Amino acid sequence: GFTRSFSSSNSLNAVKTVTVIGGGLMGSGIAQVSAQAGQNVTLVDLNAETLQKALKSIENNLKRVAKKVHKDDVAKIDSFVKDSIARIKTSIKVEDGVNSDLIIEAIVEQLDVKQQLFNKLDELAPQYTILTSNTSSIPINAIGSGIKRKDRLGGLHFFNPVPVMRLIEVIKTDDMSEETHQTLMEWGKSVGKTCITCKDRPGFVVNRLLGPYSAEALRMYERGDATMEDIDIGMKLGAGYPMGPFELCDYTGLDTNKHVMRVLYEMTKEEVFRPVPLLDKMVAEGKLGVNINCLSGDAS
Ligand code: CAA
Ligand code: NAD
Repeated sequence: GFTRSFSSSNSLNAVKTVTVIGGGLMGSGIAQVSAQAGQNVTLVDLNAETLQKALKSIENNLKRVAKKVHKDDVAKIDSFVKDSIARIKTSIKVEDGVNSDLIIEAIVEQLDVKQQLFNKLDELAPQYTILTSNTSSIPINAIGSGIKRKDRLGGLHFFNPVPVMRLIEVIKTDDMSEETHQTLMEWGKSVGKTCITCKDRPGFVVNRLLGPYSAEALRMYERGDATMEDIDIGMKLGAGYPMGPFELCDYTGLDTNKHVMRVLYEMTKEEVFRPVPLLDKMVAEGKLGVNINCLSGDAS
């Protein structure tokens, strides 16, 4: 980092240190794929207990990866897991993570909270640091509206489960420099993902298409056209999707789905995104996803 602030060009592939802010479902996955690709990672969360849980889940997932790569070679499996984990530092203070080449934010999906964080990062991080968000639905420009380094602001949108899903959407704002864009594309590739470039538009590419699909599945069920099980089977066996729309909604979280749809509705005013009463009702009842066994178990 230090030497780079004196070099005239920020050479590509230069990202060696990454800070992930938010150690929940997505942040822990992003920290894992970064560490297993050889990056030095700082994982930050407000909650120390969350960080302990994140490390545990990263370790378990690294073991799955290691077993696939190294088969029955116990020594290699052990060192892959140990070496990767050793590259991850954790902290409850954002100040401990500001000196990285790349910062990826994966905290709660709330504009004001994200804005506050980005303002602080812009103030504390060195000039060369690229600031990115993993937001599902909030425009990157809005998140970074208060920062100065607009050429080094962008989106890195991962998919759940991060260790398995092979895509990153690289969100290129109008102010992002070509250099930043290329650095992010290269970095994504270096952690084993395929990157696509998306403009900073509502839902980017994938959620813009998944949103209407999920909403229509819910409405189809509400109209009584088919059972949830039959809709799920239909899309798996008839369209080749790995999960049906209800299984997927369960998996990504009903609250997340409701939230993404609401934000897309506010931004586009398109009817397809109009809030679905069934989803609102289930979220209000605290049925949020697979962990507490809702939608897909609730179809009859
Ligand atoms: N960490 C690491 N590895 C995992 C894992 C995890 N959390 N979950 C599964 N795996 C691995 C398994 O070890 C297994 O590996 P092998 O096949 O090499 O042995 C592989 O992934 C498949 O797992 P399973 O056999 O257990 O289960 P599956 O075949 O049903 O696959 C799935 C599970 C990958 C989740 C698959 O069902 C799937 O792709 N579902 C759709 C997921 C999806 O669409 N995600 C995007 C949601 S949208 C989003 O994320 C954006 C947003 O902003 C909300
Ligand atoms: P999560 O609730 O599992 O994790 C968020 C974590 O951020 C929590 O551990 C919380 O303690 C921490 N946090 C909150 N405010 C913080 C702050 N100011 N500083 C440090 N840590 C803070 O959420 P998640 O599902 O991992 O989602 C994180 C982000 O990723 C959201 O923007 C979401 O829209 C996006 N996303 C989610 C999915 C998904 O399928 N869940 C997919 C793609 C993108």
